[in-house]
Amino acid sequence: MTGPGAEALLKQLEATVEENLDRHLASAEDWMPHEYVPWAEGRNFAVLGGEPWSAEQSRLSPVARTALELNLLTEDNLPSYHAELGSTFGRRGAWGLWVNRWTAEEGRHAACIRDYLLVTRGVDPESLERARMATMQAGFDSGDKPLLQACAYVSFQELATRVSHRNTGRYCADPVAEKLLARIAMDENLHMLFYRDLVKAALEIAPGQTLRAITDEVTGFVMPGSVIPGFARKAAQVAQAGIYDLRVHHDDVIMPLVRHWRIFETEGLDAEGEQARQELAAALEVLDARAARFVARRAEAEAERAKAGHGTGRNGYG
Ligand SMILES: [Fe+2]
Ligand SMILES: [Fe+2]
Repeated sequence: MTGPGAEALLKQLEATVEENLDRHLASAEDWMPHEYVPWAEGRNFAVLGGEPWSAEQSRLSPVARTALELNLLTEDNLPSYHAELGSTFGRRGAWGLWVNRWTAEEGRHAACIRDYLLVTRGVDPESLERARMATMQAGFDSGDKPLLQACAYVSFQELATRVSHRNTGRYCADPVAEKLLARIAMDENLHMLFYRDLVKAALEIAPGQTLRAITDEVTGFVMPGSVIPGFARKAAQVAQAGIYDLRVHHDDVIMPLVRHWRIFETEGLDAEGEQARQELAAALEVLDARAARFVARRAEAEAERAKAGHGTGRNGYG
């Protein structure tokens, strides 16, 4: 790899981190998670003389429950993400301030989604707690990504999380859940903007190296939730429901950032950058084709189900 090393990049990008942090603090709303939880619906569970959980108490469809669980367990693993970002970005100066601020904001997300689910008896609290234990003990290890890879990854990741929360909220068909998840998605959007603009600055400082990082993160993208027990099966349900599938990933997560960074309009790239850009173009084509195949297969399966009189399955009840 050519271009500045990690230490030099951290220094060169520090002014951008500071600017982005100031902008973030000016635009982030000081919202209160407890305001979004319908506390009046809450009641005791068995140990305190109340009723244990059972499925018919939930007003959420099975797929909506799965989507909420995946989003929550992904948020639960925050200590791992904090440790990873801390070691990549460092704990000093503007980088360190950002890591702690970001962590404090993220801490609200798991807290209020869990409060909502427990108070409304939306999911089985015992299996949720077991899954949280397993997920946090597995931790999340992104493989010590170098700085630029980490910045590209979190750009895509924050946008993926925004889209996932927003689409889950819509799918829940519960105005309380939708309001809560829309509020969380606004946080994720601001996080995405922070990283997106950091990558934009990196593209100016070290275009070839940054393009290589972006390409590697598009081709090797793995959701942080992949350590959740039963992730593959649960993610497949969420994809079947259209909450987060390959089409969404390509159209609403990867492409908006690729377009914003003006990757295919950048001129004067070095050989490394040109090579990375060609690989990226090929990878995007493959992703788009896979998304098209997935959507076509899903539509066929839905048509079959409709013919057999089982509904479309897209509302989570079919
Ligand atoms: Fe979050
Ligand atoms: Fe976030």
